[in-house]
Amino acid sequence: MRIAVPREITPGERRLALTPDAAAALVKGSLEVLVETGAGDGAFYFDAAFEAAGARIVSDATTLYAQADVVLKVQKPTLAEVDRLREGTVLLSFLQALTSPDLVQRLVTRRITSFGMEGIPRISRAQKMDALSSQANISGYKAVLIAAESLAKFFPMMMTAAGTVFAAKVLVMGAGVAGLQAIATARRLGAQVWGYDVRAAVKEQVESLGAKFLELDLGVADAEDKGGYAKALSADAARRQQELLAEKTKDFDVVITTALVPGRTAPRLVTGETVRGMRPGSVIVDLAAEAGGNCELTEPDRIVVTGGVTIHGPTNLPATMPVHASQLYARNVTELLREFVKDGALALSLDDEVIKGACVTHGGEIVNEAVKATVAARKTA
Ligand code: NAI
Repeated sequence: MRIAVPREITPGERRLALTPDAAAALVKGSLEVLVETGAGDGAFYFDAAFEAAGARIVSDATTLYAQADVVLKVQKPTLAEVDRLREGTVLLSFLQALTSPDLVQRLVTRRITSFGMEGIPRISRAQKMDALSSQANISGYKAVLIAAESLAKFFPMMMTAAGTVFAAKVLVMGAGVAGLQAIATARRLGAQVWGYDVRAAVKEQVESLGAKFLELDLGVADAEDKGGYAKALSADAARRQQELLAEKTKDFDVVITTALVPGRTAPRLVTGETVRGMRPGSVIVDLAAEAGGNCELTEPDRIVVTGGVTIHGPTNLPATMPVHASQLYARNVTELLREFVKDGALALSLDDEVIKGACVTHGGEIVNEAVKATVAARKTA
């Protein structure tokens, strides 16, 4: 069985789906590994290292796809990339299947067996395949470095002969994987840190990192669903949340926002009015920029400065740390591969909980229930 790794073609994407170490493990398991020339250059995993690991370097994407049984990618493929796959090829990649109907349709037409890494269920057994978490962890870390670099102040308290400076105050809104890493990183840099989330269960996790938990009374009994995710707030509760946060946000030098509700645009936590109430020199890093932004003034992949407040809206921070991002992603993707490739052959069990969550298309059909329901709803709308 041939596992192929193409060069990522999305602008700014420096990750790739396999590292030389991960390739060596596949080769040891009697799989053939093909890597497109230069696929790892952006992450400093060069062709020579892949060759030393037993992989074969292929000069162009067309030749690579023509020989592939399984393709490992990071970014969702373009329709042109899908068209290059042979019928029946297995594809493992982020797909954003719930919001990419054209891509899903093309995968069906081309009879590709596709797996979306965003669909890995959050169960203990699947933790090693959880690419959303491995990459969110990087985003949370990097968001704090951006904030520290952008802030015209120290993060830690300093007692010097020239006087004492007080520690920066950092508020992290949304304390999931990215938010908790942002809290931990800001603490390591010596800031005074507060965490906020609608899910009450998070309080303990925030406090265990040495941060304080910001409690707001939204008049909502339970903002967590059965799967442990946040539910969308009612319009009234959301308005109340914006007002209460506007009041609190004035005191902070740095606000990092990471709030998301699966399948929805990002909740609006920081309004333009809130930004106008912040001190000049304050910094916002909005990790929800790609999903519409938690801050009203965020512009994706741009730095906006208004009233002295700097707002960053980075959409692909894992790509800025491609060495570790690729290493962790490679582990996630090869662990998923191990779930259904046994002794060099495909052994797909569509009843398995992990496969059920991640497999989007197979045998010319959509097999994922959530994607099927979304596509059906679109057709009737
Ligand atoms: P996420 O990236 O989907 O969302 C980020 C955070 O935003 C969440 O904590 C959410 O509660 C919060 N949020 C949503 N709306 C908000 C609002 N209006 N105001 C303030 N905060 C808001 O979250 P992530 O990191 O994917 O984690 C979500 C859940 O998944 C958690 O329960 C986490 O423990 C769980 N999880 C489980 C894993 C496993 O068991 N393998 C692995 C990773 C996460």
